[in-house]
Amino acid sequence: MKSTIVLVALISCIFFNIANGNDEYQVYLTTGDQSKKLSHEAPCRVTSSHNGYSVWVDRRKRRQTIDGFGAALTNSAAYVIYHSPVRQQILQDLFGNGDNDLGVSYIRLPMGCSDLNAVQPYTYNDIPNGQTDFSLNQFSIDKDRAFVIPVIKEALSINPTLKIMATPWSAPAWMKNNRNLNGGDFVDSWNYWQTYAQYFVKFIEAYKAEGITIESLTLQNEPLLSRNDYPTMKMSAGQQQAFIRDHLGPLFRQRNIHTKILVFDHNWSDSWYPEQVISDGNTKQYVSGVAWHGYSGRHDAPGVFHGKLSDVGMYFSEISGGSWDTNFASILTWDTRIIFIGQTRNWAKSVLLWNIALDQNHGPKVANLGGCNDCRGVITVQNNYYNKNAEYYALAHMSKFVKPGAVRLESNYVSWDDLRTAAFVNTDGTTVIVVSNPNSSKSATFSLDIDAKHYQYNNLPPQSVVTFVK
Ligand SMILES: *[C@@H]1O[C@H](CO)[C@@H](O)[C@H](O)[C@H]1NC(C)=O
Ligand SMILES: *[C@@H]1O[C@H](CO)[C@@H](O)[C@H](O)[C@H]1NC(C)=O
Repeated sequence: MKSTIVLVALISCIFFNIANGNDEYQVYLTTGDQSKKLSHEAPCRVTSSHNGYSVWVDRRKRRQTIDGFGAALTNSAAYVIYHSPVRQQILQDLFGNGDNDLGVSYIRLPMGCSDLNAVQPYTYNDIPNGQTDFSLNQFSIDKDRAFVIPVIKEALSINPTLKIMATPWSAPAWMKNNRNLNGGDFVDSWNYWQTYAQYFVKFIEAYKAEGITIESLTLQNEPLLSRNDYPTMKMSAGQQQAFIRDHLGPLFRQRNIHTKILVFDHNWSDSWYPEQVISDGNTKQYVSGVAWHGYSGRHDAPGVFHGKLSDVGMYFSEISGGSWDTNFASILTWDTRIIFIGQTRNWAKSVLLWNIALDQNHGPKVANLGGCNDCRGVITVQNNYYNKNAEYYALAHMSKFVKPGAVRLESNYVSWDDLRTAAFVNTDGTTVIVVSNPNSSKSATFSLDIDAKHYQYNNLPPQSVVTFVK
C-alpha cells in the first residue's frame, strides 16, 4: 500500500515535470524606479509562440573565461569597514555567496597609497629623506596590518577563492627624482629598476606569508597621470616595457611567482600605450593582460584591442560613481550597459569598480589629500548601518550569478537604444543571461532564444536590468 502511494507520487511527479517541462529560467529584476531591487520574480517559462525582440544566445560560440567581479579595497574602504559596528554583516554581504549576498569574487588592492587613504599615504619602504635602501632592509607591510590585512583575512574566510589585483600609486619616494610620493618620475637607472622588481617580489611574498595570494599585479595606476596633491607616478610605455622584460618578468620566473602581470591600468582612450608595451615579444612573454579604466575613450577599446591581439587578456580595473550623478536609474543603466555588459562583451575577464565602501562624506580621507573628493562606494557605511548604492545592484546582477571560471557565450546586441545582453555558462552548467533595457521611456518585450527554444519575457521596464538563471 505504502509503496503504491510512493509509486503513484513518483509517476505523477515525472509526468508533471514532463508536462511542465520544468523548463524555466529564474528571474532577478532591478528597476530604475527602485520598486524592485534584485527581486526574485516569477520564472520565465518556455513558450511555443514568441513576440517582441529576440535575445539569442549561441552556446557553440564560447568566448573568454571570467576571473571575477568586484571593486577596490582602498585604504579608506578597509578603514570604514573595519571600524563599522556591523563589520561582520558588511563582509558577509559583500563576499558571501548566499541568497542575500553580493558574491564579490575579485578585489583591487592599492599598495599602501592612493587618493582614497584614511591614513597618511605610505609605501612598504619609507625611509628618511636623503637615504637609499637598495637591499630593501627596511621593507615592511606592517602598516597594512592595522586594518587592511584583517579585512582581507575576514573576506577570505567568507570567500576563500577571492582574487586580489594589487596596484601601486607610486614607488617609494626614495626611488623617485623628486623624493615624494606625489608627482615626479622614477629614477631611470638599472639598479633602481632592479630594486623595484625586488620590491614587488617582497610584497607578494610578505602577503603569501599572511596566507594571502596576489592573483595579479598592475605595475602603476594610471601611468600617464602626474599630480602634486596625491600619490601618482608617470611611467612611460617604454619604461614599462623594459621593466617587465629586463627585471620583473625574469625575476618572477626565477622565484616561481605566478602572479599575473597586467600592463597599462588607464583610460580606454590610450590603447596605444599597452600596444607599445607588448610590441616587444620579449616583454609580451611575461604579460597576461591589459587593465583598463573607463574615464575617457570608447568603451569598446578593449574589444578593438582583442581584435588585434587576441592572446592577451582584457581586465577592466576601475570606474567610479560619485556626486556628479546621484540618479539611481541613470547609474544603474550606465553601469550595466557600458561597464558590466559593455566590458564583458568586449572581452573583459574581470570587471572591477573603484571603492567597495566609503562613508557618507566620500571618505574617510586624511587631511590635504587631493584626487577624488566626491567618489561614492559600492556601499555607503554610516554609523551602525550601511546603504547599498546603485553600483551595488549593477555589480550584483553579474557577481551573484556569474562565477569565476564561467565562459561567456555569444549573444546578440539588439541595438544601441534598446536591449543589451551578455550570456555566460558557469562551471556547474548553469546558464546566466543578463539583459538591460537602457531606454528611458519604453518597456521591452522579448524572448530568450536559446537551445532552439523560446522563453517569453514581457515588459522589462525602462532603465531596468534583469538576470535569467537556469
Ligand atoms: C583619464 O583618466 C583620468 C582620471 O585619472 C583623467 O584625469 C584624464 O583626463 C583621462 N585622460 C584623458 C586622456 O582624457
Ligand atoms: C527610447 O525609445 C524611444 C521610442 O522608441 C525613442 O524615441 C528613444 O530615442 C529611445 N532612446 C532613449 C535613450 O530613450
